[in-house]
Amino acid sequence: MSGIQESWGSRLGLVLAMAGNAVGLGNFLRFPVQAVQNGGGAFIIPYLICFLLMGIPLLFVEWSMGRFGGVRGNHSTPFIMDSMAPKQFIWRYVGVFGIFTNLAVAAYYCYLESWTLGYMWYSVSGEFSGMTAAEVAGLFTWYTGFDAIHNIVFWILCLVLNTWILSKGLSGGIEKVAKIGMPLLIFFGLILAIRGVTLQGGEDGAIESGTVGLNFLWNPDFSTIWTPKVWLAAAGQIFFTLSLGMGSIHCYASYLRSRDDVALNAMSAGWMNEFVEVVLGGAIIIPITVGYFGIDGMKELVNQAGGLGLGFRTLPYLFQQWGPTLAALAGLAWFGLLFFAGITSSLAMGTPVMGFLRDEFGWKMKSSAWLFGAMVFVLGLPTVAFFHYGVFDEYDYWAGTVSLVVFATLEIILFAWVFGMDKGWAEITRGADIRVPLIYKFIIKYVTPAFLLFVFIGSLPEIWAMLTHREILHQITITTDQEQVEFLERKMWFVNLSRFILLAVWLSIAGVVYKAYRKRKKTGRLDPSL
Ligand code: PHE
Repeated sequence: MSGIQESWGSRLGLVLAMAGNAVGLGNFLRFPVQAVQNGGGAFIIPYLICFLLMGIPLLFVEWSMGRFGGVRGNHSTPFIMDSMAPKQFIWRYVGVFGIFTNLAVAAYYCYLESWTLGYMWYSVSGEFSGMTAAEVAGLFTWYTGFDAIHNIVFWILCLVLNTWILSKGLSGGIEKVAKIGMPLLIFFGLILAIRGVTLQGGEDGAIESGTVGLNFLWNPDFSTIWTPKVWLAAAGQIFFTLSLGMGSIHCYASYLRSRDDVALNAMSAGWMNEFVEVVLGGAIIIPITVGYFGIDGMKELVNQAGGLGLGFRTLPYLFQQWGPTLAALAGLAWFGLLFFAGITSSLAMGTPVMGFLRDEFGWKMKSSAWLFGAMVFVLGLPTVAFFHYGVFDEYDYWAGTVSLVVFATLEIILFAWVFGMDKGWAEITRGADIRVPLIYKFIIKYVTPAFLLFVFIGSLPEIWAMLTHREILHQITITTDQEQVEFLERKMWFVNLSRFILLAVWLSIAGVVYKAYRKRKKTGRLDPSL
């Protein structure tokens, strides 16, 4: 057992930490790009429906699963799930996902997070001033390439910082960072959003007003609403942004007491995330980029380099149009905001791993934090060294997208059908400070699982195409440039390597879970309710 029981310092701290967990780089870089790639106004309706029918129910489920397991001394999903269905060993291994995804996502997420440190530094030191658009974009390619040494310095700094905060525990580390980071982030976000929305065509070199970009995002477009691809993208975004299907919400909630409210807290954190995503995340990069490049120009940029492209390649250049002082401040606000959004999320990824080590093997807070840091370093190395070979994207696809849907589908089956919806409902409503509408009992039992199965089955063709390298092979057949073909072949090799690494990590965790189980059996700690 983990010695002294950890817990949250205050309710405000808990909600901010949970909101910090959810509010991340996904809100500012991923959401706007998903919206653009899926038709702007056509995206928002499926997105909101997914939030109501999948996001909110899963928040209730994950929070109450976490509290249920935590009360019984379990702080990571293998044994949280085990405590809900002790007779079926399979759930322990389903729970492996809740450790695996955190490690694998942290491996690339922390790298991304570290860029924001580098870019804050560049913004303040005036590195971008006088650069052309192409030079600013080129700087990013260089920065993430092989010969930029200081990107490694910032990366390691970022890892050490994460580890150090994690080693201070929940109330002494994570909660403090959330209490400072969340308000600051919202403050920076508001400033930039106001600037984005009030941008005037003809001023500061802009050709369009910020409202043009906003209209593009928010004018509902019903013509493409029945496209499955849009629904899959919307569901994927809801997962990623709310940190669902990851195991990190379970872990945070496992430090609640048995009668602490979950319903209202889950809603507060969830809605706060949606505010930051839809209101702030939607009002910064798209309106500003559209202001300078028009809608078609912005779409082209997105297609070329995705969300990371806009945030790191384009925005620093556009800020320069506002004069050196404002540019430095805007850069500081933008990358500072991304940094706080990122760190409050990456901290959340550390806790399930640490919780597991502490529960099962009696590790200390400090040593478990450092082991997490070391693992993220080792797993992250390939994403840093071979970024341009697609290792980063491969981690993101399997661990940051597919695994979430798989895990969420299985956990809701466990909750509503194995554990049982009546018991489940009692868990959700116990100690609740709001009346949860009864309709959610029905939704959690039937609608959300059906919806999740639909999403999962709908994405099988795409998963298959990824698995069989369809895109890369297609590119190889159409390129005539020998050098490019060699690059693509090497890329395929690295993609396979990434998959091998991820699989090996999953299996190793399963092995350790098995060991923990044996240990519990030997020491008579098998009944999870003890
Ligand atoms: N929700 C975070 C984001 O939007 C990402 C995240 C995923 C955080 C999983 C923690 C766990 O960026």
